Amino acid sequence: MPSDIKDIALAADGMLRIEWAGMKMPVLDMIEERFKKELPFNGVTIACCLHVTTETANLMRVLRAGGATVGLCASNPLSTQDAAAAAIARDMGVSVFAIHGEDRETYYKHIHSIMDMKPVITIDDGADLVSTLHKEGQSLLPNMLGGTEETTTGVVRLRSMAKSGALRYPVIAVNDADTKHLFDNRYGTGQSTLDGIIRATNRLVAGTDFVVCGYGWCGRGAAMRASGLGARVIVIEVDPVKALEAAMDGYTVMPIEKAASIGDFFVTATGDINVIRGEHFKLMKDGAIICNTGHFDIELELDALEKMSVEKRQIRDSVGEFKLQDGRRIYLLAEGRLVNLSAAEGHPSSVMDMSFANQALCAEYLVKHKGDLALGVHPVPLEIDRHIASMKLEAMGISIDTLTEEQVEYLAAWETGT
Ligand code: ADE
Repeated sequence: MPSDIKDIALAADGMLRIEWAGMKMPVLDMIEERFKKELPFNGVTIACCLHVTTETANLMRVLRAGGATVGLCASNPLSTQDAAAAAIARDMGVSVFAIHGEDRETYYKHIHSIMDMKPVITIDDGADLVSTLHKEGQSLLPNMLGGTEETTTGVVRLRSMAKSGALRYPVIAVNDADTKHLFDNRYGTGQSTLDGIIRATNRLVAGTDFVVCGYGWCGRGAAMRASGLGARVIVIEVDPVKALEAAMDGYTVMPIEKAASIGDFFVTATGDINVIRGEHFKLMKDGAIICNTGHFDIELELDALEKMSVEKRQIRDSVGEFKLQDGRRIYLLAEGRLVNLSAAEGHPSSVMDMSFANQALCAEYLVKHKGDLALGVHPVPLEIDRHIASMKLEAMGISIDTLTEEQVEYLAAWETGT
């Protein structure tokens, strides 16, 4: 298979890691069994722009079992696990274009490489593939069955494409499924963000002031896990309802201007630009640690930090030291890119099991409903979302109750009141 990866010799190690991740992906296993029999993707080419990890490798195996021709490129230059990329390319019959640390030019060259495979379905994480395809691959548009989108940032971008009339095929917002964001964004980001911070710094979190910017599902997860490790958590929000939730969840809520001089750790999870800016870096304590767990590296105003600094050095892997004029030092993790995927390995496989089950089943849905869906962003069909929850419960050995007939009737009736 044509591929561009770091080193094929890493494939054996990659396969072991993929097997390890796969042990906690039972829902994907169930889907794979059915796909092997039904081959829903026979004759279908799928282009995937995803974090190239061991979990993604397990999605690749399921798409291939369904008969798809698959191309895979990275959705972030720093999240590629080169061993996983090598194993997917060598042993899974997938064309892989992803190298850890690739520059911007290579990143987009790789997106073009999977577009060259003439896909009819896109599976995207952040919407770089969809936006590039709409700008520079318009000849593909007439044959597209549709796409799926993994992350909040991507869904926001796609909605704005749809609003301006630019989106030319239907896309399913996988992120918005309950079995995706309630687990992946909350428990996945929660654990992997703290994992990334700890792997990068080996600092103690207990007893520190830990500032989380954004109280969406990712911010909630990070706040919950930092609190669990013994930090005093401060939440920064712009939405009054979310701010209220954070306050009632037991966190201190304040503006970033006030939190800047208090925090030991700062994590952004908002999806928006320049959330922590030059004026805030100026107020920070010596040794403050800043990082981002949102999709793009735009949440920290890094240009301002560069300009304010008189000296800069890499003090350990994933930790950049910026010395300010008065001698104070600020530590930036993973160059401001997704700390959970750059300094750690992303979400654990048991949550990616559900996220990627959504991807596989929504891709199948696009094939089955060819031509039925209008242009625009669509929710994951409820039956898929609930089916995934049921499969996960079954795999976890958890059984639940069902309504009695009397209860069904009661819920359907309006006559009975006080
Ligand atoms: N996004 C977050 N964590 C991930 C993982 N482990 N694999 C692929 N995409 C991810």
